[in-house]
Amino acid sequence: MSINKESELIGMKKAGEAVACTLREMRNYAQPGMTTKELDTYGAKILEDFGAKSAPYLTYGFPGWTCISVNNEFCHGIPSDTRILKEGDLINIDVSAELDGFWSDNGSSFVLGEDVNKHQKLIEASKQILHKAIYNIKGGVRISEIGHLIETEAKKRGYKVIKNLTGHGIGRSLHEEPSEIANYRDRFNLTRFKKNSVVAIETFISTTSSYAQTLNDGWTMVGNNGGFMAQHEHTIVVTDGKPIILTEMNGVWE
Ligand code: CO
Ligand code: CO
Repeated sequence: MSINKESELIGMKKAGEAVACTLREMRNYAQPGMTTKELDTYGAKILEDFGAKSAPYLTYGFPGWTCISVNNEFCHGIPSDTRILKEGDLINIDVSAELDGFWSDNGSSFVLGEDVNKHQKLIEASKQILHKAIYNIKGGVRISEIGHLIETEAKKRGYKVIKNLTGHGIGRSLHEEPSEIANYRDRFNLTRFKKNSVVAIETFISTTSSYAQTLNDGWTMVGNNGGFMAQHEHTIVVTDGKPIILTEMNGVWE
């Protein structure tokens, strides 16, 4: 969407606060021994307290409030009462929701407890790259230029990017134009970021895979070449200068 009125900015700020706060609290709540279903139920309660509804459920009928993906699962993991979290797991939580007609999206990967499986370096890379990407976005910048930046920064650190997962426009629905904000330089994409538009920027930094593929459950995505992936996502408003980060309070950069 494009923000044209103060009321639209206020609406998007509230939706951003709801998803950011939910993500932050879920990350703090996660403990070894807990199921991903318990973690999702906890997040659902926070979203409900804000008056927000699950965006993947509303949009796609996703069987959960939030997406929780563990270890070899890259994204769209279904909350499950048989999936028990362990010390050192690489967890990705993605929270997107609708509140009063405004939609916001954010996500983060983190290690549960002690980093016994050495995932932190991948996570730090993803966080730093998201930061650099976002602060290079302003009205007039080519989307492909940001994709190029993300891939270059990933390679510099010895990582790959996932080519078939992208950021996207957002605001009045979960996925809007521009529909694909890729993590590589898509030379066919001549689109530029527009001032006042709302976009969800997300990294997909991986160790060995370049594509994500869907498992038989119809939702969970894993790598075509295995390994691990870290994702960090913010919903932002594009300006002439520094973007307004609507989901900043998720604490990803703290
Ligand atoms: Co998301
Ligand atoms: Co998104």
